[in-house]
Amino acid sequence: MKVSVSPGHNINGTLILPLFEGTDSLLAAHEEGLHTALKSQINRVLQDGDFKAKLKTTMSILGCEGGKAMLVGLGKEADADIHAYRKAGATVIANRKKAHGTELTARFCNASIEVMGAFTEGMLLRDYSFDHYKQQDEDEEKEGEIDVRITCDEGQESDLTSIIHIHAGVASGVHLSRDLGNRPPNDMYPEAFADQAWEWAKDYDNVKVTIINYDQAVKAGMGGLVAVGMGSARKPCMVIFELNKDKKGRAPMLVGKGITFDTGGISLKPGANMDEMKYDMGGSATVFGTMQALASTGFAGKVNAITCMAENMPSSNAQRPGDVIKTLSGKTIEVLNTDAEGRLVLSDGLWKAGEYDPEYIIDFATLTGACVVALGHEATGLWSNDDDFRTRIHEAGNAVDELAWPMPLLPAFEKEMTNSKIADTRNLGAGRYGGANTAAAFLKQFVPTRNYEKDGEQIPWAHMDIAGTYWGAKTNSMVGHGATGIHVRTMYHLITNG
Ligand code: BES
Ligand code: ZN
Ligand code: ZN
Repeated sequence: MKVSVSPGHNINGTLILPLFEGTDSLLAAHEEGLHTALKSQINRVLQDGDFKAKLKTTMSILGCEGGKAMLVGLGKEADADIHAYRKAGATVIANRKKAHGTELTARFCNASIEVMGAFTEGMLLRDYSFDHYKQQDEDEEKEGEIDVRITCDEGQESDLTSIIHIHAGVASGVHLSRDLGNRPPNDMYPEAFADQAWEWAKDYDNVKVTIINYDQAVKAGMGGLVAVGMGSARKPCMVIFELNKDKKGRAPMLVGKGITFDTGGISLKPGANMDEMKYDMGGSATVFGTMQALASTGFAGKVNAITCMAENMPSSNAQRPGDVIKTLSGKTIEVLNTDAEGRLVLSDGLWKAGEYDPEYIIDFATLTGACVVALGHEATGLWSNDDDFRTRIHEAGNAVDELAWPMPLLPAFEKEMTNSKIADTRNLGAGRYGGANTAAAFLKQFVPTRNYEKDGEQIPWAHMDIAGTYWGAKTNSMVGHGATGIHVRTMYHLITNG
């Protein structure tokens, strides 16, 4: 999508007119430069109450000699915050048909830069499709890129242009996350992800990507990553991203679960909907997408990230239930269920994170079905060893309308995960209940202390279980279907505002 900003009254292509509930005729400022036929048509619709301007609704006016228009509901004026504007913008793109054409002019008057920015952000985010795997119909002409003009008041152009530039960069990060997630698992395997990160880094002078391949992971003692990935012909790897690495001081560290396909391994999953387990690398996609959002908007701070990539397959080389593995931390794990593999790869990723002396660590993982049972598709589960830090992340999520809900990190859950008879820890809880919490408690054991000091204080850490939010969220207005790209925006907000 191309976006330009200008004051003035020209209308290119279809007029996009955002309206509050209760509007029964056009304002004088809306009417400027409008063809009389279109003006009277719109006024008729509004007077008759045929368009109520409820949020997430549109009405198209086509076939009028004065041009084409799409009326867009913003809902009640008193409730019209940036979230409403973002949703309204997304609804325009969701409801746009070929007949509207690809040229759109959104007309605002007396609107703030923030709300116009949010409206544009919604349009940018929703302008996404994943059709690389479809043949192009020869008879059908391919639609060009959507070209949007935002008309604002005099004096607003330059600030609005800079805000939109940021939104476009962040949206490119969300779309990268979605592309990675939507890619079929025969094409999105650990080394394919690593190669893509490697190629991507070439676009930026201030980005470094390091790949720890299978042999190096074995040598380094990354027993969690190796155990999960060894059953697959597509070998596991770890990918390390460093942005502005020469900057001094501590930096955020993001860690992602990157299971490019989760069959469950020898503890095989049932067949129904198993295809959805291609999304089990959603955590690593969130991390990569966030790095893209930061790099493309020219963020000058230092940020590091680690993704733990593996394919969880059953085979003669696969790990077995009952195996005991030794992780990078030195801690051993009794693997009681090979389907609880995300925590195994993360145990090495979290421990490795300590080498970077991070300001804080946040991990992202499609970790448990139990989290989906608890929160549905409406919120990510959020655990932390630091209450203030957890609140900051919760608030960053609220600021961009990506909910992350506080969940408890209780000593009892941790205890449940350490009572293996033969190893330091076990990868399965003792009973059926609280599975998302026992998983979080398990991860906590692999969060390093500063400089790995024995009995030192743990680095501030948060765990975000995106099993319910990385895909399948029908109420997410920014997404039609497939991977959502959740939390790239939350992380961009947290990192750039903190
Ligand atoms: N990737 C799954 C979690 C998952 C399941 C995400 C469904 C989204 C939808 C994870 O690796 C897994 O299989 N977890 C098990 C853990 C259990 C064996 C302790 C689960 O949730 O059933
Ligand atoms: Zn699993
Ligand atoms: Zn998994």
